[in-house]
Order: sequence, then structure tokens, then C-alpha cells
Amino acid sequence: MSIFSRSLLLSAIITLAAPAQQPIPEKQVEKRVDSLLKQMTLREKIGQLNQLFVFPQPVPGMPSLNDEDIAKGDYGSFLFVSDAAQINRLQHIAVDKSRLHIPLLFGLDVIHGFKTVFPAPIAMAASFDPATVERAQAVAAREASAAGVRWTFAPMVDIARDPRWGRIMEGAGEDPFLGSAIARAQVKGFQGSYIGEPGHVLTSVKHFAGYGAADGGRDYDSSYISDEQLWNVYLPPFHAAVEAGAGTVMSAYMDLNGVPATGNRFLLTDVLRDTWNFQGFVVSDAFAVRDLVTHGFAKDPADAASLSISAGVNMDMGSRTYIDNLETLVKEGRFKETQIERMVRPILAMKIRLGLFETPYVDESATKSIFAASEHKAEARRAAQRSAVLLRNEGALLPLIQGRYSSIAVIGPMADSFIDIRGSWALVDDPTQAISVARGIREKVGNGVRVETAMGCEIRRNVPSMFDMILGVKRGTPLTDQQNTTEIEKAVTLASRSDVSVMVLGETQDMSGEAASRTSLDLPGRQEELLEKVMAIGKPLVLVLLNGRPLSIHWAAEHVPAILEAWYPGAEGGHAVADLLFGDANPGGKLPVTFPRTVGQVPIYYAHTLTHQPEGSPGFVSRYWDEPSSPLYPFGYGLSYTTFKISNLKVENHKVSVDVQNTGARAGDEVVQLYIHQKSGRASRPVRLLKGFERVTLAPGESKTVHFTLTDDELSYWSATDRKWVHDRSDFDVWVGSDSNATLHGNLSPVQ
Ligand code: NOJ
Repeated sequence: MSIFSRSLLLSAIITLAAPAQQPIPEKQVEKRVDSLLKQMTLREKIGQLNQLFVFPQPVPGMPSLNDEDIAKGDYGSFLFVSDAAQINRLQHIAVDKSRLHIPLLFGLDVIHGFKTVFPAPIAMAASFDPATVERAQAVAAREASAAGVRWTFAPMVDIARDPRWGRIMEGAGEDPFLGSAIARAQVKGFQGSYIGEPGHVLTSVKHFAGYGAADGGRDYDSSYISDEQLWNVYLPPFHAAVEAGAGTVMSAYMDLNGVPATGNRFLLTDVLRDTWNFQGFVVSDAFAVRDLVTHGFAKDPADAASLSISAGVNMDMGSRTYIDNLETLVKEGRFKETQIERMVRPILAMKIRLGLFETPYVDESATKSIFAASEHKAEARRAAQRSAVLLRNEGALLPLIQGRYSSIAVIGPMADSFIDIRGSWALVDDPTQAISVARGIREKVGNGVRVETAMGCEIRRNVPSMFDMILGVKRGTPLTDQQNTTEIEKAVTLASRSDVSVMVLGETQDMSGEAASRTSLDLPGRQEELLEKVMAIGKPLVLVLLNGRPLSIHWAAEHVPAILEAWYPGAEGGHAVADLLFGDANPGGKLPVTFPRTVGQVPIYYAHTLTHQPEGSPGFVSRYWDEPSSPLYPFGYGLSYTTFKISNLKVENHKVSVDVQNTGARAGDEVVQLYIHQKSGRASRPVRLLKGFERVTLAPGESKTVHFTLTDDELSYWSATDRKWVHDRSDFDVWVGSDSNATLHGNLSPVQ
């Protein structure tokens, strides 16, 4: 038997071995890493630090894949391969043909679903429901791992307080307490109860750290964050994810206070490893190692490799800077081989924990049924129902009563779009399976009701995004102004002959996300004009928003009777929106980010500190001439088709309780929110800070007592004076209610 056929047989046996049902003991992991390291050449070690992009089609300017190099052991990981057969093919080369048979680790941005597309992360955060978030990521993990993708570049836990930044869509919004809860839930959903649990994937919490504070909201631009803000606002969700067991961390692109995050020893070593005891590995963001030269930080690629590895980046995503330079650096004595070994160690350990050595391949025949699982679709529909936020409902226009309307106009550039409903990180699904709002409504009301659509105007940009290029998407030529005017007229005519209009406005799917910043938060294109013209007809109108960032919809907030913020609700979005519009589901989501009146108020967030003369005091006050300082909709805000009464606040020692009652006629959900304010101490603390929340479902008339505990952690903060976490002996205000303007008040005094 030739060596080749023997290794094929060996790999067949390996493939059929049952996946690990419990974690591999750490002692064993360590021993196996030691034994591998002893056998590896310097080049093979560096290969493990090298990750390559593999796209469905060649992309100009990107390094391409050569099978021979896999066999040589030049790659530790690939990203963007998502097809089981291709993954198996590449894995066979690594396992069968490379000297030490070390399997490859396949990674992908599985951000809000793999084949089944869930609501965008900002929407999932709006559910204020970590259990739903966990279940969604568990579904995504199941599908991804079935295809052989064992590593996701998620969750993105960057706090963002500037909606001009397009990636606000990919995070949990502005608040570190909510952000931490959502981060934990995502890590748990993706990874399961331990790294290597079958049907789960490894996480990469990103982008470490401060990426969400980009200057001017321009993606990739520098962040300048004070130590106080860094520790109290930007780092907590990362810490929560690391404590929840996140196996890897991705370093960010931008400079943090003048030092690129990917060459930042303070972040990657002092904070992450030395303070938080992180034991996993760090992968750079794509090409970020090479770009240390672009930043003007490294003098050449060799210097970039050296700076980034010294700072603590184990794996170079995409740029080949490690594989092209580290060997020479070691040979020239600028680096010790043991330093390289230190970086390889956690990568090998992770491959062992994941069970990749025992189960490197996937069963291609099993993927179809996993991807088509009806419970995955049902979960996506439920998540979309739970993440929508009802912003306005004058005269109880919603829910629409079935049978009352014999004709419905569904209007707007995204009214019948199955592409946009999915959001920006839908990479490997079948878009044609996604349900547009118009289709969801049609299916809901059946043939007896005339449902017609009109685009109204076009908003799609004609600039191919990075993903358009990678995935080969061609966007059409935008309409001329004259064509848009004609479309608006057609939409108005349609609305005039319909009983009710549902307008689906917002941003196209590629308008938020990576490299998608905006200088305006207005409805893009001529959508505002379209809305005002349809509203002028005087017939019932419901506005459904599809978007990834807060929009300044101040006119709509005063004139349109019903507004439902659906975000990008995912592939089942059309079904979920129809369920919500017709009352088969009751909105219970809340805003995870403040909605400004206008972009000029940015940054605006609820947890600001009071200043010299706040608005409302006599004399010179902090204010704008032309707008109030208050937001259009506050953090935590959201209505329901029923009403709730929150009462009987009790604050005893560090225990807080409150009664919540459904006082309306429908079952519904309320998110009971607890806020505190420290009245004095070593620092001025924010006017309010979220420190507890619980989403409860109540039948009409039903009540429940909700309990919170304010632990030492919740009452502490990082003091810039003392440079450590402190708990001042201060009095605290306590509020509980249904948003960040809650008025039910109590006091918490220091325990004597
Ligand atoms: C760049 C993005 O910033 C990061 O979030 C993503 O994971 C990588 N590209 C890989 O797609």
C-alpha cells in the first residue's frame, strides 16, 4: 500500500470517528501541542500563523491559493470558503499530504446566520432578550459547522455612539451593560458549553478595541478614547465575551489614541492577556498587519510583522506579512524561535480542542437537511418578531384588522426587495428564498385582498461594495430624476386607490455595514418626499423601516400615525413584519441606541454626564439654538399593542423589585429596565446607567414581580484618578421603567 493510499485510509477512519462529546482535558491538549511543536520546522510553525482568503472567484489584487503550499504546511487557516465539498478537498490536502497532518481551521463571518439569515445584530440587541440571541447563534453555528466552517468572526461587540458609522448595524448599540449581556449570549450560542462541542463554532470577539469610536463616524478612522471611557464603556463587552469563554479575539484596524490596535501591546498583552488572563489566540483584522506600514507605524512589512507579533497578534489575516517575513527575522536573530512557538501554541491548542484532528471532514450529504431545517426558519421568524420596535401608533392604527381592508398598497424602494431584508452580512444564503415585506403581507392576507406594490423611487447606489465584487453582484443603473418623479406619481396613484398603505423605507442592505458610513441620517434618496406625498392623500399609512442605523425621521415621528422599526429583519423578515402588522405578534423590542432628531446632535447617548448648566436650568445653559438637546426617541424606548403599568418599586439593601402589569387587552411583552445614578464620588458619573433588564411576557391583566440585584460590580466603575475599579460610598438614584426616561424612583444608600 502506498503512503498516499495509507493516509487516505487513515483519514477515512478519522472522518468516521465520533466527534468529541466532552471537552478534551487541558493536560492532554498541552501534551499534544508539545509533541507537535517538537516535530515542526520553523516554516511549519509560521505557516500556522498564516491565514488566507479563498473566494468563490478570483479577486484582483488578492493573494491566490496554491494547493502545493497547503501540502507544504504554509497555511494554518482559510477564510471565506463556505462550501462543504471545497472545505473537504482543501482539508484532505492538509491532512493527507502535509508532513504532520495538521488540519486547517476554516473561518467565516457568520454574523447573523449562515444559510438561514437572522435579523442584523443591532436588531437582535433590540430584542433585549439574550435567550433569543443565544438560540439564533446556536442555529448559525449548527449550519456553519455542518459545512465545515468551525470558526466565526463574531460577535462584534464594539460600542457605537455615532450612527454615521455604518458598522453600528453589526453591534449591540450604545450601552456597555446591554452590550455585555448580548456578547455573552452570542459566545454561548456559537460555542455551546465548551470549545469543540459538536455542532458549534469557535468565536472571535471583535474588533479589539475602540473601533466603534471612529473619528467622524468614518469607518477605519482613528479613535481617541480617554482611559475612563475605554474601561467603563468600550472594554466591558469584550471582557464579558472573554469571561464567557470566547476562544479568539480579533484586533481592530484603527489607531487607538495614536497606536494601531494591531500593533498595540497595551491592548493585546497588558489588558487582554495580563489583566484578563485570556488564553486563546488573537487574529488580526484582514490585512491589518500589512497596513501597519500604511499607518506610518511600521517602516516596512518585516517591521510590521515584528511589531504586530510582539504586541500579541498570533495570526495574520490575509496579508502574508508573517509568512513572507518571519523566517528571515528569526534567521537574522531579530526574533527567537521560542517567540514564534508562543504564538503557535494557542492555535494548535484550539485545533485540538475543536476536535479537528479527530474530525477534520464534514459529511457533505448531511448539509442539505440541516440547512433546510424548518425549525431554523421558525427561529429566524420569531427572532425578527422579537427584535422589531414599535415607535409610534397613534389612534391604535396597528395592528391592522384582517378583513377591514380590501386593498393594500405596499410602497417603497424596498417594499418587495428580498435582497435588502437580509441585511449586510448575508454571504452564503440563497437570497431568492428571503421573504420581502410585500410577499409576507400577500401570504398573510391571502387572495381575497388586493395587494399591489410600487417602488416609489430608487435609492440603490451604483458603487460596487467590497462584497459585491467578491460575490460578483452587479447592481443596476440608478434611475434618472425624471424616472424617479414618475415612480413617485405611480406610488401616489396606487395609494389613492388603496384602503391602507404600508410604506417600506430606509436604507439598502449595503448602505450600512463595513465601509458604509454616511454624513446624513435622513432617509436616503427621495424617500422623504415620497412619504410626505403619500401621507398627503389622507389615507391610513404605516411606515416600516428597514435600516441598520438610527435615522432622523422627525417629520414621520410627528405626522405618520404608525411606525415600526424592523431593522434588517433577515430572510424571514417579510413573514415577521406581516405577523406584527396584523397582530399575530406583538412588538416588544426596545431601542438599543438613541435616535437623534438630526445628525447634528451626534454623538448623543443616554449615559452622558451632567455638565455646568444642563438644559432646563436658568441662565446660560448647554443647548442648541435650533433643536432641543433631547433625542427623538430615547435609548430603551419601544411601544406595544398593549399597555403596562410598572409600580411598587422597592429598594432594600441591594435588592430592587418592581411589579409590572399588563393593563391592556392583548398579551404582550415589556422590557423592565433598571437605571442607576451615583450622586457623588471620585468622578462625575453618568446621569443614568442601565444595570438590569428583563423582558417579560404577560397575558391581559396579568402581573409579575421582577427582581434585580445591584452587586458590587454594578455599583463600581473604573476611576481615572485611582486607575483602578472603585466603589464609592455614595447614595444612588434608582429608576425602573420601560425606557431610559423611567420616572419611578427610589434611593439606594451605602450599606452601613
Ligand atoms: C474585515 C472586517 O472588519 C472584519 O470584521 C471581518 O471579520 C473581516 N474583514 C473578514 O471578513
